[in-house]
Amino acid sequence: MKVLLIGSGGREHALAWKIAASPLLSWLYCAPGNPGMAKIAENIDLNAADHAAVVAFCRKNYIDLVMIGPEAPLVNGLADTLRNARIRVVGPGASAAQLEGSKGFTKDLCARFAIPTAVYGRFNNIAEAKAYIHAQGAPIVVKADGLAAGKGVVVAMTVKEALVAVDACFDGMFGPAGSEVVVEEFLQGEEASFFCLCDGTTAIPFGTAQDHKRVGEGDSGLNTGGMGAYSPAFVMTPDMVERTMREVIEPTMKAMAEIGTPFNGILFAGLIITADGPKLVEYNVRFGDPECQVLMMRLQDDLLPLLIAAADGKLAGYEPAWSDDVSLTVVLVAKGYPEAPEKGSVIEGIEEAAALPNVLVLHAGTALQDGKLIANGGRVLNVIARDKTIKETQRKAYAAIGKIRWPDGFWRSDIGWRAATRES
Ligand code: AMP
Ligand code: GLY
Repeated sequence: MKVLLIGSGGREHALAWKIAASPLLSWLYCAPGNPGMAKIAENIDLNAADHAAVVAFCRKNYIDLVMIGPEAPLVNGLADTLRNARIRVVGPGASAAQLEGSKGFTKDLCARFAIPTAVYGRFNNIAEAKAYIHAQGAPIVVKADGLAAGKGVVVAMTVKEALVAVDACFDGMFGPAGSEVVVEEFLQGEEASFFCLCDGTTAIPFGTAQDHKRVGEGDSGLNTGGMGAYSPAFVMTPDMVERTMREVIEPTMKAMAEIGTPFNGILFAGLIITADGPKLVEYNVRFGDPECQVLMMRLQDDLLPLLIAAADGKLAGYEPAWSDDVSLTVVLVAKGYPEAPEKGSVIEGIEEAAALPNVLVLHAGTALQDGKLIANGGRVLNVIARDKTIKETQRKAYAAIGKIRWPDGFWRSDIGWRAATRES
């Protein structure tokens, strides 16, 4: 079976690692991939935005399955184009991808189909947004509509902060994503990322994780794409998973089918587990990065048959097996991240780190220059470990990082701290 994987981050390296382990696989292409993926697959120069080129590549190379990693090609309708060309693909079409592409779309869907989420208002002018904030008071949350790479959200502890955030949104601080703003109730509770694999009708639970979005120790500083994660998320007990499926995921699947945009692909629910139960904070229509890394580290079954079943609408009855171990990933980023990551510094010692048992080093923003591995992005490397407890897994991951020589990189030294506190 020949597979084309779209993307180049840690998420895609994790998927490539798992797909490459499948006995069903005959060849794996990655577009564009990264230097780590090049060791287990063939990286190709194919622009995912050029849909005709992707279709032509798939036809010429007899691709059996396309897996799309990031959100941008999904929002741009690559999955629609492939489906129309009768090429097997995992991922939602552009209309269904609005679950991630437009916060307003998702909030309206929640309201219409009674899916539990924060109470909200949706505004396209400053005065009304500000009046709503004055009426509701703080804490309150201000979100730019549309894709802002996870950076368009301000959790405002005071009314003043919220008003500043509204101005920033309409000033274009988040690009065109800020032409509309969602203002919503602040939810109190623990956060969890919940994943489902979906085939248009059936959704099956596909793991839980907890991300660390802030750049600094103890969850301080600017929001990032994610500085580390672990799986499972301990708040997601079997009961809570069952409740989330019943109250959040299944109504969403029904709603999407009812409005004519059945959801196929990875549905990633950002949840806050409140005293009243799970509430939806946001949907993403793809795996999280770095969350995907910790999920793949714990998935015991072959990923490929699951992806094929999802693409073919035949997921009912699948119950993937997961390791009882904990997995944890630490993201190594370039100095200056998230605002202005410095490129070009040399990284050494990856092989020694990856040689440790139950440790995996996944690439993201790396490049090869004159035979040396260099930093070429914000999030550069990911070090993943698996063990019985959070503390042992932390020790293992940080011991592996200790083997990597990269003076121009930094990382959080406390990934998993909340869960570790709970263990002691
Ligand atoms: P989002 O991009 O919507 O996931 O939001 C980014 C982060 O902001 C979330 O991971 C939460 O930590 C926080 N957040 C978003 N919405 C809320 C809310 N209604 N109440 C409390 N925190 C929130
Ligand atoms: N780590 C968060 C995300 O991928 O959206």
